Amino acid sequence: MRTEIDITKEELIEKINYDLQWEYAAAIQYIQHQSIISGAQYNNIRDELAIHVNEEIQHAIQLADQIDYLGGEPEIKVEEIKTSNDPKEMLKQDLQGEREAIERYKKRIKQSKSLDEYATAETIKNILVTEQEHEMDLMDALNL
Ligand SMILES: [Fe+2]
Ligand SMILES: [Fe+2]
Repeated sequence: MRTEIDITKEELIEKINYDLQWEYAAAIQYIQHQSIISGAQYNNIRDELAIHVNEEIQHAIQLADQIDYLGGEPEIKVEEIKTSNDPKEMLKQDLQGEREAIERYKKRIKQSKSLDEYATAETIKNILVTEQEHEMDLMDALNL
């Protein structure tokens, strides 16, 4: 039986392209959130969000390079960007995005390995490490 781990190389390229669209969205979302978030209690996380922007852009570059290596063409479409007037709500949106990314990347690592694409798996594993750090930054800021 075919599982969600057993995919073709073309399907893997498609899925990493989907991840790429979310990386673009994350970078834009963080740019907007760090600029409009206000309140002294959010000073630290505001600085962190500005750092996340650059890390999400690095993730996008790394994914685009893997897609190119695998023989695909990197997407330029951007996934859905969320915002709010409420700082806490914005941080919750960011946290949700990180958690969804973590779930996608855990699957993507297994799928890459099943195709013997170990460098792609390793690249995504390193991205996953940063997403977990982002998740923890946001949980701290939300007192979770
Ligand atoms: Fe990312
Ligand atoms: Fe992230």
